[in-house]
Amino acid sequence: KLPVSVYENDRIASKKVAYRIADIIKSKDRRGENTVLGLATGATPIGVYAELIRLHKEEGLSFKNVITFNLDEYYPMQSKAQQSYVRFMDENLFNHIDIRRDNIHIPDGTLKKEVIADYCLAYERQISAVGGLDLQILGIGRTGHIGFNEPGSAPNSGTRLVTLDDLTRRDASRDFGGKENVPTKAITMGIGTIFKAKEIILMAWSKKKAPIIRKAVEGEITGNVPATYLQLSDNVEFILDSDAASEL
Ligand code: GLP
Repeated sequence: KLPVSVYENDRIASKKVAYRIADIIKSKDRRGENTVLGLATGATPIGVYAELIRLHKEEGLSFKNVITFNLDEYYPMQSKAQQSYVRFMDENLFNHIDIRRDNIHIPDGTLKKEVIADYCLAYERQISAVGGLDLQILGIGRTGHIGFNEPGSAPNSGTRLVTLDDLTRRDASRDFGGKENVPTKAITMGIGTIFKAKEIILMAWSKKKAPIIRKAVEGEITGNVPATYLQLSDNVEFILDSDAASEL
């Protein structure tokens, strides 16, 4: 059974996640090791990033020895575009902390199609080369996607180009001013990539996520709801607010 922690609201829950990240960074720092973080975008982790920025500014938490790999990026996507995950990460985290630019990795939405497969293999190799992900944080889409691993994703999938589900594009339509403007594809770490992380934290807030959280936690394990694969992991924790947990 999955470990699930429920907090009164997303602010308190986000702090918990930020403290966990800070603990990992500090203990690895003491051992003179880098920390390798798998990061997510979307509304869900914004409070975690805000708390990490506060810990950096007010308590001297340093990201000098932190290496990051983001889960996904729309394809195609220019990094300067309003909706790019490069911009999102800069605005919500990286511009406000002391991370080294060359330690930041986000799937590149500007590549030519024919080089993407090699690029994705290299992304996997880069993660392994620095010792693998110490922690991967995740949100969840209403299709049950983690990263952009939509229904039908294989449990051993790696980083690759995928086609977005119609519901995912509808949910993103506000950011893009209409569903027709939402890219049909994305580059995402795979379920297999996520599974290799030493620790995984999936976060969800609000009533809107309650039905999919119920399926992810209590439903049968199926590729139709990719997040159900997390039930097979020994290193995962779900961190929810009481609204997202309300159907459990
Ligand atoms: C997006 C991201 C996911 C994210 C999910 C939920 O499409 N690619 O990584 O977890 O959808 O988004 P939100 O946190 O805004 O609800």
